[in-house]
Amino acid sequence: MMNYSNTILESNLRVNPAGIKDKVHVFAPATVANMICGFDILGFAVDYPGDEVIMYRVENPGVRIRSIVGDEGRLPLDADKNTVSACVKMLLIDLGMEKEIGVEIELIKHMPIGSGLGSSSASTVAGLFAINELLGRPLTKAELMPYCVEGERLACGHGHADNVAPALMGGITLIRGHEPLDIIKLPVPEELYAGIVFPKVDVPTRDARKLIKEKVLLKDAVTQWGNIAGLMAGLYEADYSLISRSMKDVLIEPTRAILIPEFYEMRRIAEEVGVLSFGISGSGPSVVAISRGKEGAEQVVERIQEHLTNCDIESFKYVSAVNLNGPRVV
Ligand code: HSE
Repeated sequence: MMNYSNTILESNLRVNPAGIKDKVHVFAPATVANMICGFDILGFAVDYPGDEVIMYRVENPGVRIRSIVGDEGRLPLDADKNTVSACVKMLLIDLGMEKEIGVEIELIKHMPIGSGLGSSSASTVAGLFAINELLGRPLTKAELMPYCVEGERLACGHGHADNVAPALMGGITLIRGHEPLDIIKLPVPEELYAGIVFPKVDVPTRDARKLIKEKVLLKDAVTQWGNIAGLMAGLYEADYSLISRSMKDVLIEPTRAILIPEFYEMRRIAEEVGVLSFGISGSGPSVVAISRGKEGAEQVVERIQEHLTNCDIESFKYVSAVNLNGPRVV
């Protein structure tokens, strides 16, 4: 984390040994990355689902994983290989505290891995938020962000921030630039709801990224940046009609939709109910219906789940407003 070393060294001076806690329990939210038209640059957090980290201070220095629940045995318990512990360790090293502080981590996952809901981001953010709380909050959220992005790089091979930014900051975030990170919190129109359905098939982000074309047609790029700009204006004005017209993806969805069973039928259902927008959540396979008010989102997820059940596809559904605050101490 060389780029941030100066900031971190200053933060080290803010650790008050008397303020270090014995235990913290943190929840961090799932996120809908891309927000349909903003591949790698837009995302929002939801209230539910999310992941939890319980972090204990122990005498023996170092970072260890005590247990992981809800991952179907898929995540490594080795603290150097697990993204959450690796990021916590990275932070302690940068603070110069790895030889004096010992922590053990319990990770409780409430959402599937490879679901398109920012599963790894929620865990990483929960872990980094927890160590910062345990140490008496030496770092600001902005200072924690580079560690979260590093976690994303470890988890899927690419350091995009469109999941970790909303998971840490809450609300809707725009990643104006990645190098250096330039994150802008956008206004959240009050009546915006997300209805999410996760069809239980595994689509690892790493694979879903490989599918995407490196080059795009200029006419498609023009359509897409018109939509992104329209969405920005719509959010600032709370103009739901403009939000609806703008949340369309001509660049990524046509390629990724093939990985998602029943995608176009799910879209047809969403259009029949009449929501603002429908598309892929993150890299999929979860899909998201954006509605004005809770009812539309509820109807869409209900009907989509019914359809998937008829097709013998197991699924999970969630309805949530936009989460405004990001992680919280439980
Ligand atoms: N922007 C990322 C993608 C989000 O679409 O690949 C998934 O982590």
